[in-house]
Amino acid sequence: MDAAAGSADAPLLLLAVSSLVILTAIQSRRRRVLRGAPSPPSLPLLGHLHLLGYPLHRALASLAVAQGRPGVSAAAPVLSLRLGARRALLVSAHAAAVECFTERDAALAGRPRLLARGVLGYGCTDILWASYGDHWWTLRRFFSAELLSASRLAARAADRRAEVAALVDNLLRDATDGATPLMMVTLRPRLFEFVINVMLRALIGVSLHGSDAARWQEIVEESVRLNAAPSVGDLYPALRWAILQGGTGTSMLTIEWAMAQLLLHPEAMKKVRAEIDTHVRTARLVEESDIASLPYLQCVVKETLRLRPVGPIIPAHEAMEDCTVGGFHVRWGTMILVNAWAIQRDPAAAWDAPDEFMPERFLDDGGKVTTAAAVPMLPFGVGRRRCPAEAMAMRLVSSMVAALVQCFEWDVGEGRTIDMTEGGGLSMPMATPLAAVCRPREFVKSMLSAST
Ligand code: HEM
Repeated sequence: MDAAAGSADAPLLLLAVSSLVILTAIQSRRRRVLRGAPSPPSLPLLGHLHLLGYPLHRALASLAVAQGRPGVSAAAPVLSLRLGARRALLVSAHAAAVECFTERDAALAGRPRLLARGVLGYGCTDILWASYGDHWWTLRRFFSAELLSASRLAARAADRRAEVAALVDNLLRDATDGATPLMMVTLRPRLFEFVINVMLRALIGVSLHGSDAARWQEIVEESVRLNAAPSVGDLYPALRWAILQGGTGTSMLTIEWAMAQLLLHPEAMKKVRAEIDTHVRTARLVEESDIASLPYLQCVVKETLRLRPVGPIIPAHEAMEDCTVGGFHVRWGTMILVNAWAIQRDPAAAWDAPDEFMPERFLDDGGKVTTAAAVPMLPFGVGRRRCPAEAMAMRLVSSMVAALVQCFEWDVGEGRTIDMTEGGGLSMPMATPLAAVCRPREFVKSMLSAST
């Protein structure tokens, strides 16, 4: 009876064992598929907070390199981090960043609700920090249609030209006030005035000059510090952070970095000037419509955005659902930190001498500027949350750099050097504001008086 029962049970036993084996195999496969990204050793409570440093983009770049696999990748393309109680995915490779903002764009279009953002971003209702959803779409559509569409940009071209001319005129007047037409200029306050006026003209049709503009610079800087609201923001509460902080700071700092790079590379400055002198000549001020015919100038701006992206870490995104990046599981609520600074200097990403300022790298064999899609960089982000003002920013930066180079000779100054140290924070300013000696070129006075 026992023997008979045993042989009757045998198929059942076999079925149970094989089911167990199959189940275990399926589960272990799922675990492999859903494995999180590699993670450096962490501390209780702190997680990886102790590994962060200043400036953040450099600290995160070093962390990714330290976790790279020799012979496979110089830096870990994605790393899983825990910052206190928050999960974060650090992305340090172009392919992974593109995956985040293309295939996973919808899943990763959220923004984390961080305390400071809640205050500075008006309870996370401004366009930059709003969660992905109807409110954000409304703001984005308004922003794109009312301020940044091709027709709006074209309609405001004369305003921007007038603001470029005003800066050149002020600089000329200040430089020719004294006994010698030579002076040390700190560019940042002048650039602030230029950019804020372009924004204000586009928003409410007014511009500020002299002490009013200086006061505004104080107010904007103070508002960042104290979370106070600048008054124009009351007209467009949900846009104020983006326009006043995002728009002004980013463009102003990019122009400052570009001028610093040109001062450090006089041969590049000469090439920009020669290009403008050949194409525009000296009878009129260079204009936005000239930019398409100034390929070397375009390369200088691109190279500046590559080496000195003013959003070195793309403002954090957040996973709105579970998904994968680079084959690794990313859980809902994970903060996505894309290190654009590291990606744009990644030697594995087709960059020759990635730390060098070499505008020519953007010229193809036929002397044409390579298209954005062909290069592994993302200074304006990618996907549905990418900067909506790229076209405007490129116009502002290119036309101002062109005008400064066309109208003035620039020099570091006797016995001086330029401090290229990067400051920290969300944007990446020059730690020491750029100051340089400026001398108007001989034709500028007559050129400006002829055009007024
Ligand atoms: C050189 C100049 C600029 C650079 C490098 C830059 C870069 C960026 C970057 C990296 C982002 C984040 C993209 C993402 O989260 O995926 C962004 C977002 C944004 N930028 Fe810019 N920006 C510049 C100028 C401007 C200007 C002039 C304005 C306003 C007129 C502006 C308005 C915005 C807004 C509103 C967003 C938020 C978009 C959203 O979350 O939907 N930016 N920008």
